[in-house]
Amino acid sequence: MPDNKISMAVIKRLPKYHRYLKDLLDKDVHRISSKELSRIIGFTASQIRQDLNNFGGFGQQGYGYNVEDLYHEIGKILGLTKPYNTVIVGAGNLGQALANYTSFGDYGFKLQGIFDINPRLVGMRISNTDVYDMEDLGAFIKEKNVELAFICTNKEGAQDVADRLVEADIRGIWNFAPVDLNLPEEIVVENVHLIDDLLTLSYFLKEKPETEA
Ligand code: NAI
Repeated sequence: MPDNKISMAVIKRLPKYHRYLKDLLDKDVHRISSKELSRIIGFTASQIRQDLNNFGGFGQQGYGYNVEDLYHEIGKILGLTKPYNTVIVGAGNLGQALANYTSFGDYGFKLQGIFDINPRLVGMRISNTDVYDMEDLGAFIKEKNVELAFICTNKEGAQDVADRLVEADIRGIWNFAPVDLNLPEEIVVENVHLIDDLLTLSYFLKEKPETEA
C-alpha cells in the first residue's frame, strides 16, 4: 500500500470520510454507491475515487462501497487500530473542556492525567481524571506509556511544557497554545487555532451583502 506520497489534502479529508461512514453505519447503511457517498459527503465521485485509490481503491464496479469495510480501512489508515494514552497539560478553561469531551475516548484516545502548575488545581478530579503537579509529568508519561499530549497552557508556558514532554519521550503534541513550538523533527505536532477559522468566517461574512431586516 503506497503511503509515503499521500498529499496533505487527502490526509485532511480522511477524517471527514471516517465521520460520515460512521454516521451511515449508525443508520444501518451497509452499502453505498460512490454517487450517493459524493452527495452526502460533498466531494465529487471522482475526487472520492482518486482519494481512495491512494490506498488501493476499496470500491467495486457496479457495487459501490461496503460501508463497514471502508470505515475500518480508513480507521486503519488514520492509525486508529490501537489506543493512545494521552495527557492534558493546562487544566484551565480549555483543558477542562477537552477533558470533559469524553468522545475522544471513543476513538481510542485515553486520557490518563491532567497536569498544571497551579497548586489550587492539583488534586482536583475533572471528568474522572486526576490533576497532577507538573513535577510528576516526566515520570507519569513514562510509567503510563503516554504517547500524545494536548498543550492547553497559556502561550508563555507552552515551549517549556513542550520541552519537558519531549524529554519524557512524548511522540505527538496537539498544541492549542497560540505559539509555534520549536520541536525535534521526530515529534508529530498539530496546531489548533480556532481563531483562524473565526477570522476566515469573518472574511466571508464581510464579502456577503447584508440582507435587509
Ligand atoms: P486558562 O488561563 O484558563 O488556563 C491555562 C492553564 O494553564 C492554567 O490553569 C495555568 O495554571 C496552566 N499553566 C500555565 N503555565 C503552565 C505551565 N508552564 N505548565 C503547566 N500548566 C501551566 O486559559 P484557557 O482559556 O484554558 O486557554 C489555554 C490556552 O489555550 C491559551 O494559550 C489560549 O490562548 C489557548 N486557546 C486556544 C484555542 C485554540 O483554538 N487553539 C481556543 C481557546 C484557547
